[in-house]
Amino acid sequence: MENRGSEVILRMEGISKSFPGVRALKGVRFEVRRGEVHVLLGENGAGKSTLMKIIVGAYQPDEGEIIWKGKPVRFSSPKEAQEAGISIVYQELNLIPHLTAVENAFLGRPITKGIIVDWKEMERLTEEKLRELGLSFPLYVPVKYLTTAQQQMIEIVRALLSNAQLIIMDEPTSSLSEREIRNLFQVIRYLKSQGVSFIYISHRMEEIKEIGDRVTVLRDGEYIGTVDVTEDLDMDQLIRMMVGREIKEKYPKEFAPRGEELLRVEGLTCGDKLKDISFTLYRGEVLGIAGLVGSGRTRLVRCIFGAEKVDKGEIYLEGRKLDIRAPWDAIRYGIALLPEDRKVQGLVLNNTVRFNTTLASLDKLIKGLFGFLDLRAEVKKVSYFIDKLKVKTPSMEQIVKYLSGGNQQKVVLAKWLFRDSEVIIFDEPTRGIDVGAKVEIYKLMNELIKEGKGIIMISSELPEILGMSDRIMVMSQGRLAGILSKEEATQEKIMKLATS
Ligand SMILES: Nc1ncnc2c1ncn2[C@@H]1O[C@H](COP(=O)(O)OP(=O)(O)OP(=O)(O)O)[C@@H](O)[C@H]1O
Ligand SMILES: [Mg+2]
Repeated sequence: MENRGSEVILRMEGISKSFPGVRALKGVRFEVRRGEVHVLLGENGAGKSTLMKIIVGAYQPDEGEIIWKGKPVRFSSPKEAQEAGISIVYQELNLIPHLTAVENAFLGRPITKGIIVDWKEMERLTEEKLRELGLSFPLYVPVKYLTTAQQQMIEIVRALLSNAQLIIMDEPTSSLSEREIRNLFQVIRYLKSQGVSFIYISHRMEEIKEIGDRVTVLRDGEYIGTVDVTEDLDMDQLIRMMVGREIKEKYPKEFAPRGEELLRVEGLTCGDKLKDISFTLYRGEVLGIAGLVGSGRTRLVRCIFGAEKVDKGEIYLEGRKLDIRAPWDAIRYGIALLPEDRKVQGLVLNNTVRFNTTLASLDKLIKGLFGFLDLRAEVKKVSYFIDKLKVKTPSMEQIVKYLSGGNQQKVVLAKWLFRDSEVIIFDEPTRGIDVGAKVEIYKLMNELIKEGKGIIMISSELPEILGMSDRIMVMSQGRLAGILSKEEATQEKIMKLATS
């Protein structure tokens, strides 16, 4: 039997929190039982991460009560929460890149023998925990050389080594492959059976039934409700609770007439990572790119964009051969790339929403001989995109790092849409984006192709690829495995090509 009782180990009541211009949480309640996975669901900016930061003492609430194992608590820092048995694994992992797994696992709380650090013991304990979780990987290389999934496991091991009874995971699967997700779920299930509780945040709705025991929904900083996860849990009802309305069509694909050839790639080769890729993108179409993680999808678009060196091959725009040596060349030709890793590649976190939105388009906003910025045009257009993408921000002058994760991603989208490019390449466009906002992004894609632009969309979500593409290109081990038309494409056919 599972060790899952009804004992409530964490209870929060009437939690409120405001930031300048934003009421992030309004009288929220929330509880976690021993040995359960409690899913926290809500739109981008609903207040999920803020509530978690309040639990671990990274933020202090303005009002409210937190009861941990029967006693009122207020942790003054995540370290204090960790000592009390609550650990948080952030999406942007918190390891020190140049230290090893063992060093990271015991960061800040080394085991000592007298005055000597007991490396042998720490190594033994780390290895033991990993073995218990059914894992093994190098303990002595700097963790920056490990995969994201492995780094995440080190964070879990670190939590367990400090006797965590509650582990908070904020969007843990958004950059993992299918296999890595399976692995993580196995680890979570095992720890559950040992009585560890989890708070689990994700925008991947299908994970709820797979891993969750209960779901609590927040909307606009308010508590909406808590439901048990059962076989026949009504997902549409959850979506209604979350966005406050019905979402009739998850993939509102519209079709535009296929126009002329827009982009043509011939024989693109990059070491043994990309081998002889040729394809054509037409105006008015969405060309989906499917494939397993590591199949070369991101490398391909980065090569087109001039972000990676190409060994061989040509790129043509409307029949004209391009000379792309750096991203700036691609941008000037009218090619935009929305990268998958937005934090690192997309934003200046310490600057405003307005600055970030117009960052790639300053040349277009310059007016007259003296190079003044046309501020009025800028403001008007920025507010258009904030509105379109439903970016949740008090104003366009807000500093981007204060936006929620999903809203930061929308700013990256806005930045490239602002630029008014002809070819728009989306790399995992809806990762970390809530269900309602996804639909808005799809509608924007519809508008773009109707204007005669061409879209390339990489996605690991097969329903998204099938739902939104006109044609689907499948990659496997750096090669083009095949191109399927919308009519012939099925999940099975795509997977077969992807693993060929
Ligand atoms: N330090 C801060 N300063 C100002 N505003 C903040 C700060 N932290 C969060 N907010 C605001 O509080 C609200 C809730 O943000 P939070 O990060 O909790 O959302 P979330 O539910 O985690 O969203 P996502 O799904 O996009 O990650 C947002 O409007 C956000 O902009
Ligand atoms: Mg968040």
